[in-house]
Amino acid sequence: GSFLQILGRTTLITIVGGAGAFYYFTQREKHPGPQLPFDSSKKTLVVLGSGWGATSLLKTLDTTEYNVPEELLPLHTLAPERRRRHAEPRSIIQPTRYITRHKTRSVAVIEAEASDVDPVNKTITFQDTSEIKGSVSSTTIPFDYLVYAVGAEVQTFNIPGVQQNACFMKELHDAERMQRQFMDCIESAAFPGQDPQEVERLLHMVVVGGGPTGIELSGELHDFLEACSRSHDDLKAWYPEMAGKVRITLVEALPSVLPTFSKQLINYTESTFKESKIDILTKTMVKEVKENSVVLQMPDKSIKEVPCGMVVWAAGNKGRKLTQDLMAKLPETQKNRRGIEVDDFLRMKGSDSIFALGDCTATSYAPTAQVASQQGAYLARVLHQMAKRDNLTEKLLELESVAPAVVGEEEKKKVVEELENAKNQLAKVKLRPFHYSHQGSLAYIGSEKAIADLPFMNGNFASGGVATYLFWRSAYLSTLFSLRNRTLVATDWLKVKLFGRDVSRD
Ligand code: NAI
Repeated sequence: GSFLQILGRTTLITIVGGAGAFYYFTQREKHPGPQLPFDSSKKTLVVLGSGWGATSLLKTLDTTEYNVPEELLPLHTLAPERRRRHAEPRSIIQPTRYITRHKTRSVAVIEAEASDVDPVNKTITFQDTSEIKGSVSSTTIPFDYLVYAVGAEVQTFNIPGVQQNACFMKELHDAERMQRQFMDCIESAAFPGQDPQEVERLLHMVVVGGGPTGIELSGELHDFLEACSRSHDDLKAWYPEMAGKVRITLVEALPSVLPTFSKQLINYTESTFKESKIDILTKTMVKEVKENSVVLQMPDKSIKEVPCGMVVWAAGNKGRKLTQDLMAKLPETQKNRRGIEVDDFLRMKGSDSIFALGDCTATSYAPTAQVASQQGAYLARVLHQMAKRDNLTEKLLELESVAPAVVGEEEKKKVVEELENAKNQLAKVKLRPFHYSHQGSLAYIGSEKAIADLPFMNGNFASGGVATYLFWRSAYLSTLFSLRNRTLVATDWLKVKLFGRDVSRD
């Protein structure tokens, strides 16, 4: 009896304590304290972008030492949970203003598109590209340092029809457009008296690209159709006459999907897709995307036109025009076609005031969120060290200039001591090169399964299955930027478990 009493009391204390801590942290996020104002004696650090790299930098950055205008590209890229209809857009998007509101010094957030970066005069020009504009819609601001983290855009290889007829999977609005089109195909197929051939076409979904994006996307499309049959929600229950007729085809130009994952995980993915009735066509290249079909070059080089209702383009990324223009201004040092070349400290080669990170750079690392996040946090620490170094150098110069004029033994001794002190501190300020620590690769493959290549002991730890999926979910939650996002996404998941996914069009 007394054991149960102790257990009951401990549980109660844990629940009350947990709820209290949760309330405290949510209130702290909601009501941050006052911020320091703009300080003209501080250097101006412009942050360009609002993806993984820029957000991670902003979160870690100590703004005491800088004035920071942050340029926010109109849309954020955290789309996977939205694709899956497991989370609402507002749960996933981390408003940059929400992060900046918690910084020591206020950060000026500019929602605009950068149209020009001048690395010589150290200026950046922005355009207000939103629908509603004031009398001023273009501005140029100077910077002392620029963190360039604009990411990449979809690579179409100029293949005819891709831009006009395919859905992309890059930004949040792409995920929403894809869902709308997908539901439109289902509704049109369900239209009374629809021609059976047309039903077959409308219900054929083609995903182009067998990289992690294409694989995750195919798995999620399949889930939307089938995986929840256990709980009898989603499409099977809403459109019983349609569910069995939907086909998903994944097209990949290379001999295998997921080339960066281990052979074991590729096999696991292929067999999961086979069970899920997702057709994988390898050594097959998309040559054109038409309004109602996709033109394929088959492994034997023959050309085949396949009717379909929707094509989702996940065939990789390329540098933005802004990046190409910036690189063209430093032709001696920026020659890499993959993106901006940086040194070990993420400084853009050829410029002493621009740092670049994430998918817009050409490094030995894969263009992943994991790399960009680590680079962002690293750069925030480097900028802190640089500010420390600049302050000490300034102090040293000031002491050196006043030292000869100092009279009196005591005063002279004091200045010499201060000089020594500043020199010692300056010698301790060391900028360490960026080092990437690979935490593993994870990809969701549908049917509540995920694959993981994790660095473990001396080799790769490969696993797949439901346990990995749960691991993937917790890893996903941990990547979200704030307690608010995590709570919102977790409650969205709970809502889906309780009530099923939302199958309406937005
Ligand atoms: P990707 O470049 O990795 O894959 C694109 C694929 O499309 C390539 O395999 C290419 O051969 C194929 N392709 C290109 N043109 C084609 C055509 N005309 N016809 C047929 N196939 C064609 O791009 P993805 O998947 O967007 O990934 C980009 C980066 O983001 C990668 O570094 C990846 O590791 C990372 N990523 C990681 C995720 C994860 O770890 N869970 C999820 C999503 C992306």
